[in-house]
Amino acid sequence: MQIHETAFIVSTYRSYHEDVSRDPYAKLWNNSKTEALIPSIVETISPYEAILHSIRNRFFYEELKDFFTKNKGGILINFGAGFSMYQFLLDKNVTTIEIDKGDILDYKKNKIEKWIEHGELPQRRIEYLPVDFNTSSEDEIIKKIKPLINKRPVFILLEGVLFFLSLAVTNKLFRVFGHLQKTGDVIGSVSYTPDIESTDVYKRLLNYFDSHNDKNDSFNHQTLTHQFYENIDGYELITFKDEFTLLQKYAPQISVNSKYDILNEHLYLLKKI
Ligand SMILES: C[S@@+](CC[C@H](N)C(=O)[O-])C[C@H]1O[C@@H](n2cnc3c(N)ncnc32)[C@H](O)[C@@H]1O
Repeated sequence: MQIHETAFIVSTYRSYHEDVSRDPYAKLWNNSKTEALIPSIVETISPYEAILHSIRNRFFYEELKDFFTKNKGGILINFGAGFSMYQFLLDKNVTTIEIDKGDILDYKKNKIEKWIEHGELPQRRIEYLPVDFNTSSEDEIIKKIKPLINKRPVFILLEGVLFFLSLAVTNKLFRVFGHLQKTGDVIGSVSYTPDIESTDVYKRLLNYFDSHNDKNDSFNHQTLTHQFYENIDGYELITFKDEFTLLQKYAPQISVNSKYDILNEHLYLLKKI
């Protein structure tokens, strides 16, 4: 499996539960190759992946809406944006900077421009910045992004990405965030906690990746503790929620006995102090 395929899969999951994800545009990315992969994932790993990813989207959508209502004319910087469509769900005065690998961004930009032209998407202010987090230095990333911010309030999103990165690259990204943001700005981040490593469902996920491994696109399997977020220089951890808990809020009709039966990600919000 290549990393860009994971972006297609997550987006397709969101389209399966529009009422929960609140993303009516996710389905624009649906394609037969991705849809053919999903039944085997659901059968071999977990049947809850689509609803959990929709819940994750909903959580950040609500937080983004709230932030940009209070901070009109702010900027969303989406690190590892994949096929996220928040920019079209938020007010038109929000600018979005989409950051990902170049090939994903070229593909996304092209499609989005056509859909806007054909009236399938509303007009938005969007910048596309190709960055490989593994190979770009801290300074290179800051130099590319900083001139685009112009003292505006910044919400940085790092959703569905940390699993694939090393701790060194993760620390580099959080140092970058510290340089880009000012007091009151927010980071939204997602990761697994280490206790998931001993669960059967997580072992099935890793097996799936190993057996569908593409040697040209290797990646890590990172988990992070809550303490990691509590100790980030210059930031206060304001809240964290797990998807098991959010399931009761956004999809109470779905019952799961234990948080250890699902790929239960934790969603964090940090504020620059
Ligand atoms: C599972 S997708 C999540 C996409 C999106 N954030 C979402 O939640 O729908 C992971 C994304 O992270 C990006 N990514 C992973 N490693 C990266 C790296 N080293 N540099 C830049 N982007 C990376 C991938 O290209 C992909 O778009």
